[in-house]
Amino acid sequence: MTERILVTGGAGYIGSHTILTLLNAGYEVVVLDNLCNSSQESLLRVEQICGKSAWFIQGDIRDRELLDDLFSTQQIDSVLHFAGLKAVGESVKQPLDYYDNNVSGSLTLCQAMACAEVFRLVFSSSATVYGEPTHMPISEDFPTGVPTNPYGRSKLMVEELLKDLAHSDPRWSIALLRYFNPIGAHPSGLMGEDPNGLPNNLLPYVSQVAIGKLPQLAVFGADYPTPDGTGIRDYIHVVDLAEGHLKALQAISHKNGVNTWNLGTGTGYSVLEMIRAFEKASEKPVPFKIVDRRLGDIAECWADPSKAELELGWKTERGLQEMMSDTWRWQLLNPQGYATKRY
Ligand code: NAD
Ligand code: WQD
Repeated sequence: MTERILVTGGAGYIGSHTILTLLNAGYEVVVLDNLCNSSQESLLRVEQICGKSAWFIQGDIRDRELLDDLFSTQQIDSVLHFAGLKAVGESVKQPLDYYDNNVSGSLTLCQAMACAEVFRLVFSSSATVYGEPTHMPISEDFPTGVPTNPYGRSKLMVEELLKDLAHSDPRWSIALLRYFNPIGAHPSGLMGEDPNGLPNNLLPYVSQVAIGKLPQLAVFGADYPTPDGTGIRDYIHVVDLAEGHLKALQAISHKNGVNTWNLGTGTGYSVLEMIRAFEKASEKPVPFKIVDRRLGDIAECWADPSKAELELGWKTERGLQEMMSDTWRWQLLNPQGYATKRY
């Protein structure tokens, strides 16, 4: 029988790409999203690409009544839980919103799942839970560290909550997926990242500079102990990330308890390398100036992804230039993001 997956936050950047992967793999998908940081247009684009559609419910994961109604009317087999707020700077200014959405929201979701006896959950965690490790690459057995902001702490809290839950009841099968730095877009140019206002993350910012929407990039620090002095990260193509979710979902259908997997490439690139690679893909200059370090940033962060390869049979397939050219195609075809009229 076809499995039906509830995807919370499915209209967002990573969720929408994952839904495409799920539909292509033959799953049925129900989306719950309050659209606070996304547009339903992303789901129409999914349908345009694969000819199949997900069932959309506009609503909030903190709404217990809605969740109970959803679980009692839909036969849900597993939940992919993307819903949450993710802007690090905003989390410092509005911590309560972050703990409410990310922690209370996850708690309410788990309560409703337990009540409906749905025990399979894939959670969107983040490499931020490692804090500032002393060496690279980061493997899953590294201790979790001290995240430098409420966003990061909210992710760590949910991880702890989920571990306690699985410990209390062996029926739970939970995947904690620690993403490194997701970038890129679907190769069709129809789906991609559509940040609200000024982008917080490097790639969307670089892309808007290249197209002329923003005048120049501020490079946050060139005095890190890295080869060129700028910060190093493990950037992962969003389509590879989506495929990692499919593999994790399949794995937890026959693995109980909590399993943690890093989803990264295993290779780090500096900010200056990213700028050069984007200039090459876009054939546009990306003017930048070096400014002070951004508070809370670490020098370097990249994954040891071998556990996911061994246990999930998953590894990334898309390289840096592909991440850049897919981002650029999305940017060119959708200068207003999902508000751009479809062609
Ligand atoms: P996104 O903002 O594009 O997607 C999140 C979605 O959740 C949005 O569609 C938003 O409308 C929805 N949402 C937020 N609060 C909700 C609520 N209370 N009820 C229902 N829907 C709600 O973000 P994304 O980049 O796709 O990230 C998805 C998940 O992955 C998030 O949990 C994020 O913290 C995590 N993550 C993201 C990154 C990254 O760099 N993008 C890295 C690590 C982890
Ligand atoms: C990458 C590099 C910056 C912007 C954040 C969250 C993390 C996860 C992913 C959600 C760093 C530099 C950036 C700019 C710059 N998010 N930079 N100028 O900080 O690694 O991770 O997003 O879960 O939790 O912390 O990603 O894209 O912001 O930065 O120089 O305008 O680019 O200093 O070295 P980060 P990022």
